[in-house]
Parts: sequence; structure tokens; C-alpha cells
Amino acid sequence: MTQSTASDYSEMINAVGKCPIDLGEVDLFGAGQQEHWPESYKILHEESPVQRIPGEGSTPDTDGFVITKYQDIYDIVRDPQTFPQPGFAGADGGGTAGMSTEDGEPSALADAMALNTLRPNLELHKAHRIELTDPWVGATGAPRHRPMVTKFVDQLIDNWIDKGEEIEFVEDFAAPLPQLVMTTILGWPLEDIDILRKWGQAQVRRFVYGKGHRNIMSDEEELENARDLGEFMEYVQEQVTRKRRDPQEDMTSFLTQVTYKAMNRKLTDNEVIGVLFGMHIGGLETTQYAIAAEAELLAQNPELWRELKADRSKIRFFAEEGMRIHAPTQGLSTRMAAKDVEIRGVPIPKGSILHLRYGAANLDAEEFNCPAEVDLTRPNTGRHMTFSQGIRVCPGAGISRLEQNIAWERLVDRLETIELAPGKNDFRHQPGIMLGLWELHLQFTKATG
Ligand code: HEM
Repeated sequence: MTQSTASDYSEMINAVGKCPIDLGEVDLFGAGQQEHWPESYKILHEESPVQRIPGEGSTPDTDGFVITKYQDIYDIVRDPQTFPQPGFAGADGGGTAGMSTEDGEPSALADAMALNTLRPNLELHKAHRIELTDPWVGATGAPRHRPMVTKFVDQLIDNWIDKGEEIEFVEDFAAPLPQLVMTTILGWPLEDIDILRKWGQAQVRRFVYGKGHRNIMSDEEELENARDLGEFMEYVQEQVTRKRRDPQEDMTSFLTQVTYKAMNRKLTDNEVIGVLFGMHIGGLETTQYAIAAEAELLAQNPELWRELKADRSKIRFFAEEGMRIHAPTQGLSTRMAAKDVEIRGVPIPKGSILHLRYGAANLDAEEFNCPAEVDLTRPNTGRHMTFSQGIRVCPGAGISRLEQNIAWERLVDRLETIELAPGKNDFRHQPGIMLGLWELHLQFTKATG
């Protein structure tokens, strides 16, 4: 993600964090600490798997808690009655922030954006996924996009494969791929990609530059972001109007036409926009970070690269391991305690916000033996927490997995080697709660024959 706002984030971007040596030095949300998360997770697992953040719950008199153990996060995401989603701005992806009426009540659009009207209860939550998103981006619907994704992967490789032997992999491959794929699935014009990328960055700005576990932005930042997102909303509304008039074979058209059986009715424009907004925020940078992190792993492990070249069936295990070790969404404050509970002896009063550290769960040595190692034979490797689990599991996991798999199938086919470009990489990641490489300079040789 490039900096695309008037706000000055250079201090956050350039901060160098100190590697923690004990619990007192662990601060997951401190400037530059993203470079030391694995070390921090190890300390938290051993000494403070349920870590209290005083005064940072759903109200000023409640607390936040960082949860890092796999089993605890597993139990929490599978118990939506005890641990529902909290209702503050950062919790819904930030998309509805600023969308309230003058008296502070959420607007009808904010409601639709949070998908409240389409899934007011857990049963409808499931129906929403099965009927509205699975056919396009879920495990059932994603495979039909294989030819389209393969075409874009090959086009991106064509752009540089004969031009030299070095690329900046993030800009030349990992970032444009999900943007091309999602824009096509949504049925929006590909010539709008540049502005859509800018809006995509505004959608996730909270998760990159927001402060603390609740991703809090200043009033000024909120305003600036609301302006960008307002433009995006107008754009999406135009697409919805266009597709209602002239439906084609794409997700926007589908949502304007479908009868939502669970409620026996069509969707309003605001509801369609709400679903589309989620697809756009979820579908871009996360997959970008996964593909970039996987490239880093392969460039650092020539043997692994050769293993994939020798046996393409191992690619899917590699993608799961890549996502496990470098989860793009490291943590989200997406659950609250609906009643007083206790986890590992720590009392968690009603109203507390739980920051689920998916990236830490994935590196929990009690769950994954030698967690930092890529192990293509790990049993049931897809059980990682990268997409979360349970009823709120990421609805776009299917399309993201497809993109990653096809990317490596084609790259492994078309390249003989990939290596780190000497002296050009600092492997720094952007700030916030996502784990995204700023850039990755690679050298490659083209496959012969
Ligand atoms: C590697 C890529 C991705 C990662 C790591 C990721 C991760 C996540 C996580 C951790 C959640 C939160 C689940 C929870 O609260 O328990 C989530 C939710 C969500 N994701 Fe993804 N995601 C990815 C790709 C995608 C894609 C490709 C899309 C869309 C096509 C998408 C759309 C969404 C949406 C709409 C939600 C909110 C679901 C809800 O409100 O119930 N994500 N994702």
C-alpha cells in the first residue's frame, strides 16, 4: 500500500522497533513492532496468552484483551453467542465509519454496509454467505474463475518475463492480480483499476495507520478517509444502477437481480452496495500480502522452489503454509464478551473487546510443531486461523486460495529460478495489524522449454 493521503504517516512508516526480550517489552501495536511479532508471540504464548489492555474495551470502563493461543481463538470464534461482533467503527472493517445521521445514529446505509438488514441473526448470517457470496468468491463458486485468473496471471508475467531478469514483485505481480480478479468478478470496468486501487487503500487505511488494537484514527483522518470513501460509494452506486438496468454475468448484476430466499425478497441498492463494499475491502490487499510473503519464502528456500517445480500437487500445501506463517490479517478486534467469562484463569468481564491474534495462533507451537518451518506434509494444514473459522469465517477464502494457487502454478511453470535481488531488500512491512511487505525485489531466470 502506498501512502495516498494528505496525512503524514512517515514517522509510523520509518519507525524501527526493538525486538522484545521479555514480556515487559512486548507491545504488538507499538511503532515498528510488526518486524518482531513472531518473537512477541512466543513470549505471549509462554507468559501472557490472554493479555489485558486496560481501558480499551467497548466502553471507557471496560478493557481489551489480546488472545494469542490457537485453542482459545478456536473456542471464541466457534461460540458466537458468547462472543458476538462488537459495534464500534473498526470492527466492521471501518467501512461504515462516519456514516451516521446528525444525531449520531447509524444511517440506513451504514446499516446496510454492516449487512445488518440482510443478516440480523446467526441463521441469516449463514444464508447470506451461502446465497450471496459463496456463488462468486466462496469455495463453491470460486473455481469457475480459474480461466479468468489464469489469464491475468499469464498477462502479468508476460509484462516482464522477456524484459530483464529483475522485478519488484509487489508492484509487478502481487498487487495487480487481486485487483484485476476482483474488478472482473464485480463486473466493474478494468480501466478504473487505478482509482479503484486508491479507494481500496482508503478502505483499509484504518487497519494500516489506525492506532492500537481498535485501529483508531484521528478526527482529521476520519474526515479525510470519509471523503475518499464517499467518492467510492458514489462510484459503486453508479455501477449498481448500471447493472440493474443492463445485467451481465458478474457479481454486481447478480446481487441486483437475485431473490434472497432466506428473506424472500430482492436486495435494496444499499444492501447490494454493502456486500460489494465488503468484497472490495476484503479481496485486494490481503491476497496481495499472501502472495508476496509466499514469494519471499520461495526466494529464500531454493529447495522448496525445486520441490514445487518437481511436483505441482504440493503447491496447495505450500500456499496454506505460506498463509499460516505470514497471515495477512494478523489480528482483529472483532469479538466482544457478551457475559462475564474466564479464559486461562483470566477474568474477562462482559463488554470486553477481544483482539484475536490469528497470526499468533498460527505460530502456536502447541498446535503446529516447529511453527516457523514450512512443512508441506503437515496434517490438515488448512486448519490455520488466517481466514478465522466458524460462522464469520472469511467469505473470500475460496477466491483468495484460487488466486494463490494459480499464481504459483504458472510462476513455477514459467520461471526456472527466483532469488532475492542482492542488496535491494529490507523486508520491511507496513504498520498496522496487517502483515504486508512494502516491496520485494526478485531476480529470476525464465524456464526453458
Ligand atoms: C489471504 C486473503 C484473506 C485473508 C487473510 C482474509 C482474512 C479475513 C479475516 C481474518 C476475516 C475476519 C473473520 C472473523 O471476524 O472471524 C475476514 C472477513 C472478511 N473477509 Fe477476508 N480475507 C482474505 C481474503 C478475502 C477476499 C478475497 C474477500 C472477498 C472476495 C474477503 C472478504 C471478507 C469479508 C467481506 C469479510 C467480513 C465477513 C463478515 O462480516 O462476516 N476476504 N477475512
